[in-house]
Amino acid sequence: MSYYLGIDVGTSGTKTLLVNASGEVVSEANAEYPLHQPKPGWTEQDPEDWWKATVKTVRAVMRKSKVKPGSVRAIGLSGQMHGSVFLDKNDKVIRNALLWNDQRTAAECDEITAAAGGRKSLIKMVANPALTGFQAPKVLWMRNHEKRNFDRLAKILLPKDEIRRRLVGDYVTEVSDASGTLFLDVVKRRWSKRLLDKLDLDLDLLPRVVESDEVTGTLTPQAAKQLGLSTECKVVGGAGDCAAGAVGNGVVRKGVLSTSIGTSGVMFVHSDEPQYDAAGRLHTFCHAVNGKWHMMGVNLTSGGSLQWWVDSVIRNLAGVPDKKRYDAATAEAKKIAAGSGGLLFLPYLNGERTPHADPNARGSFVGLNLTHTRGHMTRSVMEGITFALRDSLEIIQSLGVPVRQIRASGGGSKNPMWRQMQADVFAKKITTLEVEQGPAYGVALLAAVGDGAYKTIESACKATIKVADETAPDKKAARSYDELFPIYRDLYGRLKESMEAIAEYQSSSTK
Ligand code: XUL
Repeated sequence: MSYYLGIDVGTSGTKTLLVNASGEVVSEANAEYPLHQPKPGWTEQDPEDWWKATVKTVRAVMRKSKVKPGSVRAIGLSGQMHGSVFLDKNDKVIRNALLWNDQRTAAECDEITAAAGGRKSLIKMVANPALTGFQAPKVLWMRNHEKRNFDRLAKILLPKDEIRRRLVGDYVTEVSDASGTLFLDVVKRRWSKRLLDKLDLDLDLLPRVVESDEVTGTLTPQAAKQLGLSTECKVVGGAGDCAAGAVGNGVVRKGVLSTSIGTSGVMFVHSDEPQYDAAGRLHTFCHAVNGKWHMMGVNLTSGGSLQWWVDSVIRNLAGVPDKKRYDAATAEAKKIAAGSGGLLFLPYLNGERTPHADPNARGSFVGLNLTHTRGHMTRSVMEGITFALRDSLEIIQSLGVPVRQIRASGGGSKNPMWRQMQADVFAKKITTLEVEQGPAYGVALLAAVGDGAYKTIESACKATIKVADETAPDKKAARSYDELFPIYRDLYGRLKESMEAIAEYQSSSTK
């Protein structure tokens, strides 16, 4: 029997799955690492932590499964998108990587837009506007603020591609993750030399780009030894975590959408051609499926808002063991009727991408009254996160994209109450899958395709991914959300100026 590894280098930790050729998960391991926030809105990680977690989790799945190293035929890599690993000419990491939700680059986004000849012409080159989390503005930030570091810069890699470098000893990325750098001509699926020239950046700074199921190399003797695998083990392109998660959810054909609530919230839709939201609120990226694309809306602090609420605000619930804290908090929320008694929560704790593209957006509770309890507040946090996803869904629908099925994944699919809430807020049936293992599963399938176990990504998904369950909307709750959603949507515009002033105050008060 052949086996495949899927490794997902996430924001809170790395998850590794060992999957057999029929798509069954044989063993699983996770390892966490810290997130550094040197200033409000700045997020960084040490790439060495990702590597240590990769080695630890691969060794753990091999130990637990007792599978022979020679039977592991290929590895698929997935990871948090948009991050920047800065390497010098000796492959030394120059500084901590800046992450997808880092917000320090507003000025550099303006610089890129101007250099490209305006927003319209930038979108023509790379299919997307310049957004603070993307990789290109991070490179310019380093050039503008850390000149000495920039002068040492020889290569820029995305998080999972830094792991690949240590596995196969080569600089390679693939189209789905490369789309989130802002350097890729997304329509032609190759680097935009035009934009690089306008930004005065050298093409040599970037790795080679392949399709997601292409083999990018085999393990070096050193990596094979460290992981306890064979030097014959291949590493395929893999995918950014959103496209990888979509493959893992079988979102590889028209009409199927997925929602995923992790730290970020993602509403993802497959598309056979590159399709655009003219206002640039959705991203248009290459899919991990050869020659296909996708659109997605991304909320920066989705599950991250609930985590903040439970861990930083209401922590230490009386008599509740730490492991049960989320169940206890959501059980309180379940007792509250849909709409949280008119209490609204804006989940913009670290700025927002879709639909506002505003690093200065800030979170808030609006509508508090004396009858509200902790349960109302928890429910309203979950509803705010789900409303933010509805914002993306409405933009997708307004572009005429058919929505036949919504598949829920991540934290929001595991909790039955949150599944029901999604069905009610979207007024659509929500399906869940028999095995929902997220991006790591998607890239294990890509590895199987790259190794020849399946002919195409679509056929791999068809053979392995099965719908388990369907949650229908409750009419009364859906009506209540329909009434509240326009009020929620209106709030950002009304508070925008105050949020800006608050963000300015927050950054100056921590100087
Ligand atoms: C996608 C995005 C996030 C990260 C989180 O555009 O920024 O979903 O990939 O891992």
